[in-house]
Amino acid sequence: MGLVPTMGALHEGHLSLIRLAAREADVVAASLFVNPTQFAANEDFGSYPRREADDIGMLEAAGCRLVYCPQLTEIYPPGDSTRVRVGALSEDLEGAIRPQFFEGVASVVTRLFAHLGPDLAVFGEKDYQQLLVIRALTRDLGFPIRILGGPTQRDPDGLAMSSRNAYLGAAERRQAGALPAALQQACKRLAAGEAISDVCGDARSSLLSAGFSSVDYIEARHAETLSPMGTGSATAGVPGRILAAARLGTTRLIDNLPFQRS
Ligand code: PAJ
Repeated sequence: MGLVPTMGALHEGHLSLIRLAAREADVVAASLFVNPTQFAANEDFGSYPRREADDIGMLEAAGCRLVYCPQLTEIYPPGDSTRVRVGALSEDLEGAIRPQFFEGVASVVTRLFAHLGPDLAVFGEKDYQQLLVIRALTRDLGFPIRILGGPTQRDPDGLAMSSRNAYLGAAERRQAGALPAALQQACKRLAAGEAISDVCGDARSSLLSAGFSSVDYIEARHAETLSPMGTGSATAGVPGRILAAARLGTTRLIDNLPFQRS
């Protein structure tokens, strides 16, 4: 069984993971659960789009045979006080800005794994740090589950598909393409060996001039550990990942791309 955990409000990005799971597993299962523990009090748990009936139709059409839609108390039984915390990897980048986030993700994914017992589970590279956090918890807790990463699906202008893109107004949606464009440009310059601090600084400025209200982070890191990349020839040929989070009005967008210095 291959499992694709989701919070619903499905789009082509989620469905691409279903199809990837279907190539690797005999039976594909998905979960639909808007997980309260990964949202902070000021975040969008209450307004997160919920379209369960549509989602189930899309899942079925994509080849998914089982859908797990647990009630809150199935995941968090009354009196529950157990949480899963993954170490250093979950404290940086997204974890530094959203301190509750990865503990919530790790806690729910651990329960989905325990409840369903899949042989493999698929997560999107769109949430690249989340993918690494889940690989770490799977290894550390000894789950016999193969974790696969699926490539980020994008709109024609390059914007990574996301359930939260629905929050963007028409003008914001036009501006949002500046995020993947800035990352692509940065990757080219990083591959050409330009200094990481210059490249990330320029990418940040380009987002602000394209209308983004703030940039939470834009960082070039080691792809496997997310530790900072050094300078000079030691970084040549080492897999890198540039990761960014930025706000357009009240909507927060994240994205990332691979790079390699020559
Ligand atoms: P959600 O945001 O619904 O995403 C479910 C899965 O779809 C995640 O693995 C995510 O990385 C992937 N995904 C989202 N957009 C994508 C895109 N454009 N291309 C490819 N994959 C994409 O991530 C979560 O839910 C939750 O944190 C969850 C893991 C379900 C735990 O609650």
